Amino acid sequence: MATLTRVPSIFAPPSSHSGQCLKFSCVATSIPLTTIANTTTPPPLTLPESSSTLPLCSFPSSFSSPLFLSGKRQQVKGFQRLRAVTASMAPPSTVLVTGAGGRTGSIVYKKLKERSDHYVARGLVRTQESKEKIGGADDVFVGDIRDGDTLVPAIQGIDALIILTSAVPKMKPGFDPSKGRPEFYFEEGAFPEQVDWIGQKNQIDAAKAAGVKQIVLVGSMGGTDLNHPLNSLGNGNILVWKRKAEQYLADSGVPYTIIRAGGLQDKEGGIRELLVGKDDELLKTDTKTIARADVAEVCIQALQYEESKFKAFDLASKPEGAGTPTKDFKALFAQITTRF
Ligand SMILES: NC(=O)c1ccc[n+]([C@@H]2O[C@H](COP(=O)([O-])OP(=O)(O)OC[C@H]3O[C@@H](n4cnc5c(N)ncnc54)[C@H](OP(=O)(O)O)[C@@H]3O)[C@@H](O)[C@H]2O)c1
Repeated sequence: MATLTRVPSIFAPPSSHSGQCLKFSCVATSIPLTTIANTTTPPPLTLPESSSTLPLCSFPSSFSSPLFLSGKRQQVKGFQRLRAVTASMAPPSTVLVTGAGGRTGSIVYKKLKERSDHYVARGLVRTQESKEKIGGADDVFVGDIRDGDTLVPAIQGIDALIILTSAVPKMKPGFDPSKGRPEFYFEEGAFPEQVDWIGQKNQIDAAKAAGVKQIVLVGSMGGTDLNHPLNSLGNGNILVWKRKAEQYLADSGVPYTIIRAGGLQDKEGGIRELLVGKDDELLKTDTKTIARADVAEVCIQALQYEESKFKAFDLASKPEGAGTPTKDFKALFAQITTRF
């Protein structure tokens, strides 16, 4: 792997935490994956017996007898039904989620598997251990995003890529709560520069080379503020490197959706009103967190709507019980006007 120059730490030490929490390795493996949201898969359409015989022709406007018109209306309805049936018969898209052993990535992987009428799921994990954790199926590939060559088998032949990999700060041992805040570090070779920048760049390059039609990247709110406390964590400048990868994706020419999530929570999804924003404005409000299950759902919904493409946005939710749970994702994406 190439030797990397670490960005000098020019940031202030951690102060307030702005409601966000990166995953700390000391708790990572202890969280069960029980917060899977209810799926919103539409019921599959079935082929009506008559549809194979629908005439594929149009009629001159001079045919105007009431009898003929009623027949024509039936023909038009038949066309509409045929179009819907044809759409439902479109081959499912093959979608790879990376970081599939992570807490959000594993939810995306599970949701994709549950929607097998629409998607062929693939996952990429770093270790065999992570592969076993999510079921060990043949569609889970083991690779390291810092080494582009290891990504090729997983990326070959996919239609869309969902990036959910991230550097993970670890807590220094011997933390004594009576003596203030814990300290964090990144393992050698696993700094945000290597994972959130080089690793994401490798994925974007490989996906572009493979002709992938859309890339969804999950980043984090806070990237507009160089002095954000998360940047000081383990001297990693994590938000700086995440932002750099986001910019690289936006400049790649591949249709993209960049989701900058608020503080992630392991809570049930599908029961809150989702909020989209820009430029970290949501961080100045009381609504700056979101359930991992909701982020996972937005990642998958982004694959379905043109309105999500070439967009970057902040994502949070209202508290449960306030507002109306979001069901119309097309409308949610249509609200977003920001390309970066
Ligand atoms: N935590 C928050 O509050 C928060 C807030 C906003 C945004 N976010 C962002 O949201 C995303 C999802 O967060 P999360 O907490 O659900 O993720 P997570 O559980 O920390 O998962 C990160 C995944 O990345 C994988 N990974 C790391 N280095 C890798 C490498 N070199 N090659 C392959 N895979 C590698 C890890 O694999 P292993 O399992 O093998 O370690 C892990 O599965 C992240 O981008 C995160 O930064 C988090």
